[in-house]
Amino acid sequence: MKTLLLKDNREGILKAAEILKKGGLVAFPTETVYGLGANALDEEAVSKVYKAKGRPSDNPMIVHISEEDDIYCLAEEVTEDMKILMKCFWPGPMTMIVKRKSCIPDTTTGGLETAGIRMPENFVARQLIKEAGCPVAAPSANLSGKPSPTTAEHVIEDLDGRIDGIIVSGNSDVGIESTVIDMTGETPMILRPGKLTKEDFEKALSKKIKLDPTLNLKPDGNSAGLKPKAPGMKYKHYAPKARMIIFAGKEENIRKEIESEKQKAEKAGEKVFVIIFDREKQEDAAREFFGKLRDADRNGADLILAGALPEEGLGFSIMNRMLKSAGYNIKTV
Ligand code: TXA
Ligand code: MG
Repeated sequence: MKTLLLKDNREGILKAAEILKKGGLVAFPTETVYGLGANALDEEAVSKVYKAKGRPSDNPMIVHISEEDDIYCLAEEVTEDMKILMKCFWPGPMTMIVKRKSCIPDTTTGGLETAGIRMPENFVARQLIKEAGCPVAAPSANLSGKPSPTTAEHVIEDLDGRIDGIIVSGNSDVGIESTVIDMTGETPMILRPGKLTKEDFEKALSKKIKLDPTLNLKPDGNSAGLKPKAPGMKYKHYAPKARMIIFAGKEENIRKEIESEKQKAEKAGEKVFVIIFDREKQEDAAREFFGKLRDADRNGADLILAGALPEEGLGFSIMNRMLKSAGYNIKTV
C-alpha cells in the first residue's frame, strides 16, 4: 500500500477526512502523541487499525471527538463530575472512560461495555474529526510494543506502507499519552497517568479520586493477582531494541553511576546511549522521552542508561513509561 504524505493545511485535512469517510486509515497529530485514526463506528475500518499496528484485539481504542457535545451520542450517561472535567480539561490530554452507547461497535471497545472518549486540543486533529463527520478511533500511531510517536517521522518509520495516509505536522507538545480516567465507578479512578495528574482532578472535583492500584506495583502489574483496568497497560510497551537500565537516587549518584557503567560497557565493546533529564524541567522530559528511545535504536545502541525522575506530578507519569520501556530494570544508587 502506498502511504500518502499529507500537509497539515486545509487541503491535506480534507483529503485525510475523505480517507476516513471511505473506511481508510490516517495518522494525524495530537498534542499528546500522533494517533492512527479510523471511523470509530465502522467495524471494518477499526479492525484494519488493529492489523496495521499488530495490536491485540482485546485492547480498546480511544474514541476522539471534535466538540464536547459529541459525547452525548456516545455515552449512556454524562454525570455532573464528567461535565466538570470536560469543562476544565477539554479540549486536552484527558480520556474519560464512560458507559458506552451501542452505536460504538465491540471492535472499537475490545468487547467492553465502556469506551474511552477524548476531545484533543490539537487544531489539525479537531478539524480532521469534524470534516470526517464521525468520531475517530485512534490509538497511538506506532507499531504495537514500540514507543509512541511524537513526530511524523516516527509514524513513517513504523507505519509507512501499512496505512493510507499521514498528516505531516509539528512535534507533539505533551509527548506522553493522555491521562485515562475511569468515570464509571463511584469514585473516579486514573487508569493511565499523563500530563493531567491526580492532584489536577482532585482540585477540579473538590474530592479525592483513586489511582488504579496496579500503577504502583512493580515489577509487573500482576504480581499481587491484580490486573490493570486499562487492558493496554498490561502489555509490554515502549520497548527499545537496546537493553535498558534505570538508575534512581540522588542526582549526583545517578550521574556518577551512569558514567562508570558507561565506561565499563564501552570497554566491553557495547554502544551506550544515555538519557538524563533536568529534574526541574519535567515537561521537557515528557516531550522528549519517546523520541530519545527511538534515537537510541536508530544509533544502534546496545545499552541505554537512564536517570530516574522523582515520581511526583508529571514525573510519576514519565516514570510509568520509563519503567515499562526498561522492563522494570531499575537500580537504586
Ligand atoms: O493521548 C492519547 O490518548 C493517544 C492519542 C492518539 O489520543 N492515544 C492513545 O491510545 O494513547 P492507545 O490506544 O495507545 O492507548 C489507549 C489506552 C490503552 O491503555 C487502552 O487499554 C485504554 O486506553 N482504554 C481505552 N478504552 C478503554 C476502556 N473502555 N476501558 C479501559 N481502558 C481503556
Ligand atoms: Mg499506544
